[in-house]
Amino acid sequence: MTAMLEIDNLTLEFETPAGRVHALDNVGLSVDRGECVALVGESGSGKSITGMAIMRLNGPNARIRASRIALDGTDLQGLTDKAFQTIRGRRVAMIFQNAKSALNPLRKVGDTLTDILRAHAPERLSRRDARARVLDMLEMIGIREAEDRMYAYPAELSGGMCQRIMIAAALLCEPELIIADEPTSALDVTTQVKVMDLLMSACRERGVAVLFITHDLALASAYCDRAVVMHAGQMLEDGPAEEVFVHPRHPYSRMLLDSMPYGKESAADLKPMGGNLPDLRRDDLPACRFAERCSRVQDCCRTQSIPEARPSEAHAVRCFFPHD
Ligand SMILES: Nc1ncnc2c1ncn2[C@@H]1O[C@H](COP(=O)(O)OP(=O)(O)OP(=O)(O)O)[C@@H](O)[C@H]1O
Ligand SMILES: [Mg+2]
Repeated sequence: MTAMLEIDNLTLEFETPAGRVHALDNVGLSVDRGECVALVGESGSGKSITGMAIMRLNGPNARIRASRIALDGTDLQGLTDKAFQTIRGRRVAMIFQNAKSALNPLRKVGDTLTDILRAHAPERLSRRDARARVLDMLEMIGIREAEDRMYAYPAELSGGMCQRIMIAAALLCEPELIIADEPTSALDVTTQVKVMDLLMSACRERGVAVLFITHDLALASAYCDRAVVMHAGQMLEDGPAEEVFVHPRHPYSRMLLDSMPYGKESAADLKPMGGNLPDLRRDDLPACRFAERCSRVQDCCRTQSIPEARPSEAHAVRCFFPHD
């Protein structure tokens, strides 16, 4: 059976006045129906732009090449922008990292959500029915005094509240794929759990595929089936969450895990990340963009195309010298 989302060999460059940014290099990933895949990596590694590339939202200076960006077996690249409008929002929804600025500041959030639902719902809905559904959804994601909140403008709401409004917008249209970019980063821990449970019930009960972009490895390991580790626009490791988080094979995955509080008993166990991401405007980037930071590096890492090791059938590591 084909996966709900399949990306093969996605390369993305941005043309900027300061030069060409080699932002994504041969990215490949897939998400099945009813599967939640975590996309992790330090800030600037290319997680959000991967999600935006699926949604065609990278902006006019982006140059995208891919062998395939397919939804349920259909390559989306062949669609005109007009045809793509029926995919965006209805079949694929994205929860944006910066929820507050992603909402229309000039409209009350209840109106925004009602419009979204009426534009994307498969059936025709009266305004009144749409508002009733929006209200149910707001209550379901734990917004108190939901009816009053519908009359608020984004500027009147906290960041966490705006994030929940975005999550409601994504869930309302019952999409087949949800790209959730840090969907819970502005929420307190109890609300985080509520929102994750809701996302996961859409995933498990309705078979929605979820690409969960996050810095929070504890949340990722608690909820996700698989994890994909990204660095400087390259996918370095992809495997079952319990393998990647418990026994990472790529030196970068190890470094990332060692630098995060997840699984540590005290702050003394944290190890800061060594080095920095390479400047993606360089035309002479090494074959493995982690090479300059890696303790296992050899000449081949800079000059030869990186082989894929398979510690288990579902686990792939792009590295010449992965850990055993
Ligand atoms: N429109 C653009 N023009 C030029 N460069 C861009 C553009 N959009 C993103 N980039 C660059 O692409 C790289 C990846 O950015 P991205 O936002 O995907 O990172 P991220 O992994 O989501 O980071 P974070 O965890 O901080 O959200 C960064 O170096 C960023 O500066
Ligand atoms: Mg991001």
